[in-house]
Amino acid sequence: MSEVDQMHAYYSARAPLMAQRLATQPSPQVLEIIGQLRSMAQDQTVLEIACGPGYWTRYVAPVARETVATDYSVKMLNFARAQFLPKTRYIHDDAYHLKNIGGVKFDFGFAMHWVSHIPIARWKQFFTTFHSHMKQGARVMLVDDIHRPDDHDPYYSKLDTHDSYELRQLPDGSSYEIIKTYFTPGQLRELLAPFGRNIDIHFTRPRWWLTYDVISGGNRR
Ligand SMILES: C[S@@+](CC[C@H](N)C(=O)[O-])C[C@H]1O[C@@H](n2cnc3c(N)ncnc32)[C@H](O)[C@@H]1O
Repeated sequence: MSEVDQMHAYYSARAPLMAQRLATQPSPQVLEIIGQLRSMAQDQTVLEIACGPGYWTRYVAPVARETVATDYSVKMLNFARAQFLPKTRYIHDDAYHLKNIGGVKFDFGFAMHWVSHIPIARWKQFFTTFHSHMKQGARVMLVDDIHRPDDHDPYYSKLDTHDSYELRQLPDGSSYEIIKTYFTPGQLRELLAPFGRNIDIHFTRPRWWLTYDVISGGNRR
């Protein structure tokens, strides 16, 4: 199976488990992130990449002017849709192409626990595509994991791609090799420098979050 197929199979199989998280109480750190997310999304048109079952979408949708939530797993999108959030459209789309969301440009974009899955060789492709759907002056928020010392998933790099991988196992015993990069703040700054300015990084276990202004979006309208 290709890397893309493994990721798709893994997240589609994991969708019901991830949907269970919708019922859990947010941790203090997640509440802090939600607070910032909601203030950035307030009255804005919002594009969410890789929304999964809509864990974060449900905090954004009520305050945003309009939200478009995308994912390439139909199973994930079905869980997200089942929340019947206001002013929200769910679109099946591949984050590297975003061919199905049309030509509208957005004020604010966010992607949670997604960028750690981008192969380094596709980083430019993703951010160029993503930002081509953002207005001039748009803002972005990204959130992802910091490696936990007690995480026992096998974690290794490959010489040919320089990407890092984890072997993820699901309760049914199936296992999947997934790209997963645990960035340092320095790596994030370096990788994002061509795409964003005013990069503001919070780096506190268990997850980092950052915001930036898009360098080259389309015209504001
Ligand atoms: C770790 S989950 C994060 C889900 C959600 N953002 C959250 O934080 O709960 C990663 C998500 O990326 C989606 N995904 C993986 N590859 C993708 C791609 N090429 N295009 C769009 N979504 C993708 C998966 O289906 C999954 O929903």
